[in-house]
Amino acid sequence: MQAQNRTKARTMRERTLGGNLALGAAAGAVLLASAYASASEEGDGLDRWWAPGEGRTFPELLDYDNEHGTLRTLLVGGPLETDGHPFFEPIGPNGRACVTCHQPADGMSLSTASVRAQWDATGGADPLFAAYDGSNCPTLPQGERASHSLLLDRGLIRIERPWPPAQWNGAGVEPDFAIEVVRDPNGCNSGAEYGPEAGVISVYRRPRPIGNMKYLLAVGFDLDPKQGVALPRDPETGVYLSGNLMADNRVSTLRDQMFDAGSTHLGMLDRMSDEDRHRIEAFELSIFVAQQRGGGGEVDDGGATGGPATLRDSEPGELGALGFPVWGEFAAWEEIDEEDRARLTPEEVAFRESVARGARIFRERTFLVSDAAGLTTQMGFGNPFRVACKMCHNMTRMGNDVAPGQVDLGTTTLPFADHFDDLPLFRITCLNDPHPYYGRQILTYDPGFALTTGRCADVGKITLQSMRGLAARAPYFSNGSAQDLHAVVDYYDRRYNIGYSEQEKQDLVNLMSVL
Ligand code: HEC
Ligand code: HEC
Repeated sequence: MQAQNRTKARTMRERTLGGNLALGAAAGAVLLASAYASASEEGDGLDRWWAPGEGRTFPELLDYDNEHGTLRTLLVGGPLETDGHPFFEPIGPNGRACVTCHQPADGMSLSTASVRAQWDATGGADPLFAAYDGSNCPTLPQGERASHSLLLDRGLIRIERPWPPAQWNGAGVEPDFAIEVVRDPNGCNSGAEYGPEAGVISVYRRPRPIGNMKYLLAVGFDLDPKQGVALPRDPETGVYLSGNLMADNRVSTLRDQMFDAGSTHLGMLDRMSDEDRHRIEAFELSIFVAQQRGGGGEVDDGGATGGPATLRDSEPGELGALGFPVWGEFAAWEEIDEEDRARLTPEEVAFRESVARGARIFRERTFLVSDAAGLTTQMGFGNPFRVACKMCHNMTRMGNDVAPGQVDLGTTTLPFADHFDDLPLFRITCLNDPHPYYGRQILTYDPGFALTTGRCADVGKITLQSMRGLAARAPYFSNGSAQDLHAVVDYYDRRYNIGYSEQEKQDLVNLMSVL
């Protein structure tokens, strides 16, 4: 079986990449294996990189080490034979599969560590680097590293959005703003084929993790409190839509997302078959992802309840502070008993205490948030508004937003965003009312939710991600601007002048490293 799998893996690679690359890929696995002690008991040494069409068996429990410990994927109903499975097979013409950008070792997202290892192993020939969206722009010379710098440096995939905006089903949206390209370093927002005049805008975003989907699809309110309107329903099934998918929520169901992914990332000309779509959806709904081991040892030990098994066994009904507190999983680590102290190392004890403090800081340490459209505008809380992290990241066990989670944190819009010379810069001019905080003209790298709604008040709003599996999938934020967990905390500290102490920062980092 093993040998058969390997032969198949080789033929698939040879088919898509050319003969000599199988060797390169193997070298890449070794390279990574030495960087992080190799895979785990359960995963039993499965190579980190899952290439399309390898026909491996996806075990029920699969562990991969990362710089903070070990991530575990838990597949309900596993093991799964991936041979012939549309999530794992190159079902389009470009040699990629869904798994190309949603890798188990990377928390079902894609880390820049993996991207770089894959570049080195294949000399840039891996289908991941396909010209369409795995390069800064298809018009650039594809053999050069510089043409893929956004993917290599910050894990960014090019996303094409129609201009003027249109919904996934093609229905047009009349925007209340105009858009101009101030700077186009990659050539994908100007010229005959690209840019607003050509009817298409390119933005660059991180792959979002696939997993723990029952939480992302859960509906907390039948109203979108940020827009003050009823939540939309899925016309096919009648269920309320959570509004928590994709950075700009351009699709609201896994089904629609798949058509989007198929026609863009996989280059499919035909719509995905119903059978494939059902199999992918079933996989997406069955996979749970979380860090399983970290600086304090197992995360479901000593009374704590971290790890993917808890996610599988819990229901997303408990919302924020109303029920179980956000990151209450680690409350037991606030007071570690004598027995546990005796069996753990002093470092593990200290780390557990730090995680427990981090959870409290996340819930209780408040600061003034200002000019965060989506929170300080529509919801009637006032501006500024005193919050803790959990105000926005309020879903128990997940840390995304129970309400449809589009908030402007400033990550993609000036003056708050980090400055990037390698991203396109757009000038938005509001045609009716000015934006409540930025005024009539806004400079942004990615208008985010506004590309879906067509409203200038939504410029810069990005859908909150889940906070699970963070340790495995740096960098963070939709534009990859935070290279590690410290950079995430530093961003908040700067953006809202919080004044965290070094210890508070470290406690938050340690908390996030075990989610
Ligand atoms: C080339 C890389 C790439 C490939 C291949 C790819 N994706 Fe993605 N995926 C992304 C990116 C980038 C995003 C985030 C897009 C955004 O936010 O605008 C994403 C987002 C998603 C999301 C939304 C998750 C969330 O929390 O919002 C799902 C679900 C998903 N992809 C499923 C798939 C499926 C199914 C396939 C195969 C049919 C696939 N992807 C193939 C890059 C990829
Ligand atoms: C005002 C609402 C708000 C508050 C308060 C808030 N966040 Fe966020 N958070 C967001 C939004 C919106 C995003 C998505 C931004 C993006 O991707 O560009 C986000 C993204 C993140 C991410 C990135 C996840 C990923 O997958 O890349 C992390 C980690 C995070 N927040 C941690 C925190 C921490 C720690 C705090 C407290 C210091 C906090 N957040 C407070 C709204 C908030």
